[in-house]
Amino acid sequence: PCRVVILVSGRGSNMQALVQAASRQAMPVQVCAVISNQMDAPALQWAREQGLRTASLPHRNYQSREQFDEALANEIEAHEPDYVLLAGFMRVLTDGFVRRFHGRLINIHPSLLPAFPGLNTHRRALDAGVAWHGCTVHFVTPEVDEGPIIAQWAVPVLANDNEETLAMRVLQSEHRLYAQVLSWLTQGRVSLDALGKVYLTDVGCRSFAS
Ligand code: GAR
Repeated sequence: PCRVVILVSGRGSNMQALVQAASRQAMPVQVCAVISNQMDAPALQWAREQGLRTASLPHRNYQSREQFDEALANEIEAHEPDYVLLAGFMRVLTDGFVRRFHGRLINIHPSLLPAFPGLNTHRRALDAGVAWHGCTVHFVTPEVDEGPIIAQWAVPVLANDNEETLAMRVLQSEHRLYAQVLSWLTQGRVSLDALGKVYLTDVGCRSFAS
């Protein structure tokens, strides 16, 4: 099976969507560990209840970003994953960490990148008055939220949307999109070439709309 480690910081709804899709669709996936930088992340609790292996590395226990990332990388590598999936992991990773997992490190971001990198994406989408918003799954590179895009899902912004209603619609699309990408990964359909370009094999389309 395809070995994955999932990194989380909080609620963990994307992690749950990945675990549940893998099980429902009988994907050849083994979730080797769920790792968090927050000891009290609800995501860890849920993962433990599913019998998944978990670990937490509180980032405050480390003197520098480099030391934290080194410890995190060692913990991840102990599980020998094919892929490391960031699912609401809210720490910026050092260049060294990102290089160590080149081509294996994937993130989900709550906007249609390159629009709205960073935080508060739903507020900013509403303020900008865009008609479409959504989410992006991409390979992680040292430049935050700028890595090669694997797939995107677009959702409409409705006239009466507020931050919460828009966030909820995008979150549902995140769950579907990340599960779709996981399924492609297990089928070996996603690759990153030497120039940093993503190739998808036998995949009709890399964007979806609700
Ligand atoms: C998700 O919306 C995810 O896209 C976002 O945090 C949320 C985590 O929710 N990630 C980022 O903003 C990464 N910079 P979850 O814990 O329920 O999956």
